[in-house]
Amino acid sequence: MRERLDQLHVTARDELAKATTDAAIEAWRVLYLGRRSELTKVLRSIRDLPATDRKDAGQTANSVRKSLQIAYDEKIARQNQALTRDDIDTTMPGYPMRLGSLHPLTQTLRSIRQIFAPLGFRAVTGPEVEWDRYNFELLNIPADHPARDMWDTFHVQDDKRPGEILLRTHTSPVQARIMEQVSPPVRMIVPGKVYRYEDRDASHEAELMQVEGLAIDEQITMADLRGTLAHFIRAMFGADRDHRLRASYFPFTEPSVEVDVSCHVCEGSGCSLCSNTGWIEILGAGMVHPTVLVNVGYDPQQYQGFAFGMGVERITMVKLGVTDIRDFYRNDLRFLRQFT
Ligand code: DAH
Repeated sequence: MRERLDQLHVTARDELAKATTDAAIEAWRVLYLGRRSELTKVLRSIRDLPATDRKDAGQTANSVRKSLQIAYDEKIARQNQALTRDDIDTTMPGYPMRLGSLHPLTQTLRSIRQIFAPLGFRAVTGPEVEWDRYNFELLNIPADHPARDMWDTFHVQDDKRPGEILLRTHTSPVQARIMEQVSPPVRMIVPGKVYRYEDRDASHEAELMQVEGLAIDEQITMADLRGTLAHFIRAMFGADRDHRLRASYFPFTEPSVEVDVSCHVCEGSGCSLCSNTGWIEILGAGMVHPTVLVNVGYDPQQYQGFAFGMGVERITMVKLGVTDIRDFYRNDLRFLRQFT
């Protein structure tokens, strides 16, 4: 009897040590301390023993029972302790998790796509490291053309092809790339990064974003360009914002225009941001030059079209009231969180 009890004691303690979940501990309790447990059976059978053995067996069985009960109580206490330690207050609300948000320039890019998609303009992309041929030559800007000074260019050093590789200074090269590949009609926009060798200040960055636009077909006129841009400006800034087209010059368009919207800081009365003009330039545009069409293999007698290139930072500044272009690239969360 004694051996049976000792064996039971050892096994029960081993099993308890192994139980880690609440369910396993409860199963252990039923098995070793419950009303139908082995121990209970032993305790009941004691009265059938010869009177001389009863006392001894009863004492042993009771001490085993006590010992297991104590072990069980301790186990439960430890289990509860894990939940109620001072440094874990399970009644505290959790830490609030801040949601991230889209960068203001990404928000503008998405709006631009959404405005042009229903007009049939499909978004395409091109390389940021570009051949001189696409960035300049095919766009009617041959080597040594004075208009090259309009874009201060970062060149990529390549001893085998000196001067031929550069960081694109605008998204316009993608016009030539696409027209080379597909026949008209073409309607596309090109969002992307461009690079300028420029001193940075409140309104100039060396690395910025543009969205190019191109529409080529058989009957496209300057009126289509004006209507498309007016629609874009209304959709982007609301009906209240004024805009104007100014005659300008780009080698790849004829005629060429620049488009201004009324200054968001002074509302047109003149301030330092708009150099006292009351206007902020947001894009260049025009009718695609016949030479560009010939360069990509299109017949300018049959096809013509318009193109534009807009500055994403400028548009975002006007839309959100930002006065320093460099803020977009400082990654200062106090700035970015204003536009979530
Ligand atoms: N590529 C010009 C620039 O970055 C902007 C531009 C002007 C794009 C006229 C055009 C255009 O497509 O037709 O300064």
